[in-house]
Amino acid sequence: MDQAFSVETLYERAEHAARTIRARWSEEARSSVVLGSGLGAFADELDEPVAIPFEEIPGFAETTVEGHAGRLVGGKIEGVPIVVMQGRFHFYEGYSFEEATFPVRTLGVLGVRSLVLTNAAGGINTALKQGALMLISDHLNLMGANPLRGANDDRFGARFPDMSEVYDREYQEIAVAEAHEMKLQMERGVYAALSGPSYETPAEIRMLRTLGADAVGMSTVPEAIIARHMGMRVLGISCITNMAAGISGQPINHAEVLETGERVRADFTELLRRVVSKLTV
Ligand code: HPA
Repeated sequence: MDQAFSVETLYERAEHAARTIRARWSEEARSSVVLGSGLGAFADELDEPVAIPFEEIPGFAETTVEGHAGRLVGGKIEGVPIVVMQGRFHFYEGYSFEEATFPVRTLGVLGVRSLVLTNAAGGINTALKQGALMLISDHLNLMGANPLRGANDDRFGARFPDMSEVYDREYQEIAVAEAHEMKLQMERGVYAALSGPSYETPAEIRMLRTLGADAVGMSTVPEAIIARHMGMRVLGISCITNMAAGISGQPINHAEVLETGERVRADFTELLRRVVSKLTV
């Protein structure tokens, strides 16, 4: 057999990536956080941080031309080791679902059992104001495909995984309790994921409202499905960075999305700090 032609499976590539991370940061993390657009500040909260740029992890996709390369940061919160992904790979950037969710595969192989997914989202439900945090209770996958499409590797999980409780109820209760202690209003809602990158039209937002969506964004759902496939427990938090198209009558722009993320930075970081160390696996 000519070894030069042997092709690593997805599982083996994830193992390879996990070994590379382990060689640079040897703590056994059980929890992980993915930080969405404008929400990266939490990574600076870690004690004893070790940062690894995505491009130094084999199997992680090459970053696109815009190139604000992300990084994986290992460290501790309240003495508990955690891995933070500061940035993610979006489907709209042109990555396949497999590329976009490879970091989650890697985290799973690394031994992570609980995953906090955060994102910037547009508010559809008018009870949500700009700058509010929304706890994701469920999602609508409207990205046009499922990230598990293709051959299934049983080492990751089942062919037809159950999705009746993607966002862990016990974790939701922990997040609600912590927000309450901080006197921070946080509603629960349904997150709809579209592929982007254009923002929605007002007609699309009316459609999404009819379908039961409270907020809309372009990420999180593929990662949540992959995490559940691997049996991880998932918590999702959206930062409502703007009202969705047609709701306030104002055009939406990316600068506003980032500005709002910056505005809620202190509360968001504090909430994550409180919640993450309490997520048992
Ligand atoms: N739509 C989709 N994705 C988003 C939005 C939005 O209004 N705001 C932040 N991410």
